[in-house]
Amino acid sequence: MKLLEDRILKDGNVLGENILKVDSFLTHQVDYELMQEIGKVFAEAYKNAGITKVVTIEASGIAPAIYVAQALDVPMIFAKKHKNITMTEGILTAEVYSFTKQVTSTVSIASKFLSENDTVLVVDDFLANGQAAKGLLEIISQAGAKVAGIGIVIEKSFQNGRKLLEDAGVAVTSLARIKAFEEGKVKFMEADA
Ligand code: G4P
Repeated sequence: MKLLEDRILKDGNVLGENILKVDSFLTHQVDYELMQEIGKVFAEAYKNAGITKVVTIEASGIAPAIYVAQALDVPMIFAKKHKNITMTEGILTAEVYSFTKQVTSTVSIASKFLSENDTVLVVDDFLANGQAAKGLLEIISQAGAKVAGIGIVIEKSFQNGRKLLEDAGVAVTSLARIKAFEEGKVKFMEADA
């Protein structure tokens, strides 16, 4: 997605070896116009897939996911990283290990929001090692729902997340695919949409 790649080149900052900071438009301050365009591109890619729910994980997946849900005219559900006192009914959970933070967290979705009648599009802001997406797949499978694909805003293609998800038999659609960071500059490979 050229608009996104151009924005990454303009406003993204490479931190250290392998982190891209995009807090001015995606992960902290959010550019809703860009999110809206992202929503339209994912909706176009999955318009014939019979999507009934968009699923993401808090926090930074929520912004793109809500616009994908709007464009597909379906609800968006975000997995929670902390149990909340109002989550008293059945919950579906998965353990997510973060290589970046070296911590395992339990993520959950109330079971009443997903069923075997659902076809889900998973959306997330970053794909690095794929652990967050894998956790979401586990939860969706516990609900008996189907997964049509995983929509990623920024994929770091030099990490192994895409392989993990494709090996699990799930289609990955990434709008920006980063091949490498070379001397602090972002180098892209061809994106999926
Ligand atoms: P994984 O889910 O692909 O396995 O990712 P990993 O454990 O490596 O990353 C942990 C967190 O760091 C995730 O956010 C992920 O989105 C984010 N992340 C990974 N690489 C980058 C990057 O290059 N830049 C930025 N800005 N973030 C990155 P999180 O902590 O789970 O959630 P959130 O609350 O920040 O959304």
